[in-house]
Amino acid sequence: MELYLDTAKIEEIEEGVELGIISGVTTNPSLLAKANPTAPIEHLKKICSIVNGPVSAEVVSTNYKDMVSEGLKISKISENIVVKIPITEDGLKATKVLSKENVPVNMTLIFSESQAILASLVGAAYISPFIGRLDDISYDGMKLVKSISEILKTTNSKSKIIAASVRHPLHVVEAAKLGAHIATVPFKTLKQLVKHPLTDIGLEKFLSDSRGISIVS
Ligand code: E4P
Repeated sequence: MELYLDTAKIEEIEEGVELGIISGVTTNPSLLAKANPTAPIEHLKKICSIVNGPVSAEVVSTNYKDMVSEGLKISKISENIVVKIPITEDGLKATKVLSKENVPVNMTLIFSESQAILASLVGAAYISPFIGRLDDISYDGMKLVKSISEILKTTNSKSKIIAASVRHPLHVVEAAKLGAHIATVPFKTLKQLVKHPLTDIGLEKFLSDSRGISIVS
């Protein structure tokens, strides 16, 4: 499984990439607004210059023709760009057109198996089920990842699953076990993935036992 960072904050992306475990970034209109860029296109360009991998940027148009022209504009920002399109009827039509133009699409706001099937049929390169938002309303987000994974395998789909709306490390581990190709994680979760109290205790003990002895002087 690959890990993407779900943020538009430059400092977080720089730190994630430096750790060597981030192979892409996903943004959405809320994240972009939170990062508060005065020039969003320049901001996305900067993100693409830091990340050597796919960077999802979402359209804010809602009708098919505008989605296509906005998507084409966004895709010109950098060759890393993946255009994020919400699953609506207009979104499906726009995804079909953009995919035919070889513009990769991340179909977002996926909350059901049927939506995932449709996203795959129109050629979405990525399908993003939102785990945390389903858990929030007492539906099992992880069950959705499992069924989408089974469906994509059975139908020989080329679409990749991005487990999105991740809230904690267990979401990442479960999504990996169930066949998600990618998990996109907030910066806080990325940090939590590294940590284990026994690692901290073990390291502290090793350092105190070593009494300053260094192997390389
Ligand atoms: C995915 O691409 C979305 O940006 C994101 O994961 C949404 O997460 P949230 O439900 O925490 O806002």
